[in-house]
Amino acid sequence: MPESAALTFPQDRTCPYHPPAAYDPLREGRPLTRVTLFDGRSVWVVTGHAEARALLSDGRLSSDRRHTAFPTPSPRFKGLSDRRPALLGVDDPAHHVQRRMLIPGFTLKQTNALRPRIQQTVDGLIDAMLAKGSTAELVGDFALPVPSMVICALLGVPYEDHAFFEGQSRRLLRGPEAADVEDALQRLDAYFVELIARKRRSPGEGILDDLIAQRLLTGEIDIEELVAMATILLVAGHETTANMISLGTFTLLRHPERLAELRADPSLLPAAVEELMRFLSIADGMLRVATEDIQTGGVTIRADDGVVFSTSVINRDGAVFAEPDALDWHRPARHHLAFGFGIHQCLGQNLARAELEIALGTLFARLPGLRLAAEPDRIPFKPGDTIQGLIELPVAW
Ligand code: HEM
Repeated sequence: MPESAALTFPQDRTCPYHPPAAYDPLREGRPLTRVTLFDGRSVWVVTGHAEARALLSDGRLSSDRRHTAFPTPSPRFKGLSDRRPALLGVDDPAHHVQRRMLIPGFTLKQTNALRPRIQQTVDGLIDAMLAKGSTAELVGDFALPVPSMVICALLGVPYEDHAFFEGQSRRLLRGPEAADVEDALQRLDAYFVELIARKRRSPGEGILDDLIAQRLLTGEIDIEELVAMATILLVAGHETTANMISLGTFTLLRHPERLAELRADPSLLPAAVEELMRFLSIADGMLRVATEDIQTGGVTIRADDGVVFSTSVINRDGAVFAEPDALDWHRPARHHLAFGFGIHQCLGQNLARAELEIALGTLFARLPGLRLAAEPDRIPFKPGDTIQGLIELPVAW
């Protein structure tokens, strides 16, 4: 057994923008290693970039959480296997059918058309922060409302309900108990059943309205499938981007030279967003189960083996990214796997990039004196078994 077989996965980060120090042994050469999950189960963790790309495109790895051997990263996700999944939890060919229904809402053209609205949202939130004084809690005042407002507008979900669905998303992703996860899902289900009924009576504008008219009323999908799709779009659409905005801001404030470079040349912004995606790798631990034996990276993954992808380590593979621990706007970073790879590669990546460019670009342009309002090591960040990000970010300007 390799030395790191005893490593329990996942681990908490020691610094919010670096892979956990406990993963250092995983960075030393082998592209796949055995690690142990909380329940004592031994699974493969993939840390090599080439192997990760190959495996994420390999149809012999399944995303279906109902598979009895599907790995569970944390005790609170134990009860989730019964639920009918959408997109992320579905394999091809059924996955392809669902994804095809959603692609028109997430094209680059569609996303670019949303840019003025994103800009307006960002400006409105900064105006409100300025009106309140010279300090803010950036997660609640900015990082969360930006993507939350945008995904609401895109889906046709009333933003007035944001306290409800942000709270349920938080319980869904962070518990703390298994009962929270199950209850949050049930509440989100009930919310969407009611919202869809309301929309059937009086249609509005948004992806949900289009899906009701074009797919639900035609009988192509049933209400259960539509609710599952709506839930993943709403949760994935705001939690992830919110974490990138807060952690991205913190990381820039902790790298003043890189920030100064960006301020001096705003045309670097798209490259900076891409590099921040690589550097922060907030979705650290994509999960799969093998349905057949697979030879890769000098090992054999057996059928029913669990496979976990540590994107924070994959995106710092020195064979692909020179000086991987440095933040560098001039490197080619676009082939990072922070949005995943293969059939499940992030559906919302164009939208996320647009939101990050506008949110970070505008924030630092309009608040030139932006600084942390707490000691950096006192700023709380999320545990290793969920999407990475800050819990709070006190700032002043
Ligand atoms: C910076 C923010 C984001 C990050 C880091 C991120 C990350 C990811 C990753 C890593 C995956 C693949 C997971 C896997 O293969 O196991 C994924 C899938 C997905 N993301 Fe994102 N995402 C972000 C923003 C968004 C947004 C704004 C949306 C909008 C709705 C979205 C919707 C989705 C959906 C629906 C999937 C599943 C796609 C499928 O299975 O075909 N994401 N995301």
